[in-house]
Amino acid sequence: MPPNTITRQAPAKLNLFLHINGRRADGYHLLQSVFVRINWFDTLHFELTTDGRITRTDTINQTGKPLPDIDLAVRAAMALQAKIDLTLRGNLGVKITLEKRIPSEAGMGGGSSDAATTLLALNDLWQTGLSVEQLAAIGVTLGADVPFFLYQQHAWVQGIGEQITPIRLPAALAKSRFLVVKPPSGASTPAVFSSPDLERSTKTATIEGFAAWTETTALQQHLELFGRNDLQPVALKMCPDIAKALAWFDSQGLFGRMTGSGSAVFAQVPDSYDLNAAPSLPAGWLLKLCSLI
Ligand code: C5P
Repeated sequence: MPPNTITRQAPAKLNLFLHINGRRADGYHLLQSVFVRINWFDTLHFELTTDGRITRTDTINQTGKPLPDIDLAVRAAMALQAKIDLTLRGNLGVKITLEKRIPSEAGMGGGSSDAATTLLALNDLWQTGLSVEQLAAIGVTLGADVPFFLYQQHAWVQGIGEQITPIRLPAALAKSRFLVVKPPSGASTPAVFSSPDLERSTKTATIEGFAAWTETTALQQHLELFGRNDLQPVALKMCPDIAKALAWFDSQGLFGRMTGSGSAVFAQVPDSYDLNAAPSLPAGWLLKLCSLI
């Protein structure tokens, strides 16, 4: 008997670097990035229903803002339901219960991770039998970061976000900790991407170049990261709190970088880093010491 309920954790991501290499005719940007999964999670519970309805209840919301009624998890369920055989579609439904902990407007992919987790869970609950590649084709129509989360591994990501190459990080990098700071203000992803000031012609990098960097620098615990985040200079102008977060890291000798389109900023920290000794942050700022998962 297949299960009637499923509970899954949806992790957040960090972009170790994010380069913009071009722009497609439809306005979407060609990028290169290494996406890593961290242990900052939303939790989603899925209960099978046979009334064909898709509903969501939020039991925890730590984002500080109300969530939209039709969020990415609900849209993912609707998109998968539309793929199901017409005779079954009338019956298969789901009650989603969401514990929302990943901040929004952070560049941490929380909504995309919820969508990917929903596709994976419903593929089991509804016994849809789609492959990860088939789910990714649905996922990319929901958001460019969704395919990455479907593969459930750290990855080299290209295209607009749909070309995923899972990568194994060297042990020293994989076990290091990342301190993540999220100011209360956020940057709008479409506004950051559409800025005339955005650098859109960064030279393409290679996985081999990234691998060589991880071997020579991460093992020595150099805290400068590979490449850069091309979205950061634009987001900084729109959201001054990002500069404050970078300065907070800098005051401790840490190298901070924005993830995605912001406004969360992170730094790789040495094993000896003591969070209790960190300078205080203004009220409303979130701070979490994360591991890669
Ligand atoms: O796909 P997603 O909804 O996450 O993207 C939000 C916005 O970010 C898009 O509407 C687009 O303006 C921009 N974007 C882009 N190129 C990408 C990903 C996102 O221009 N590769």
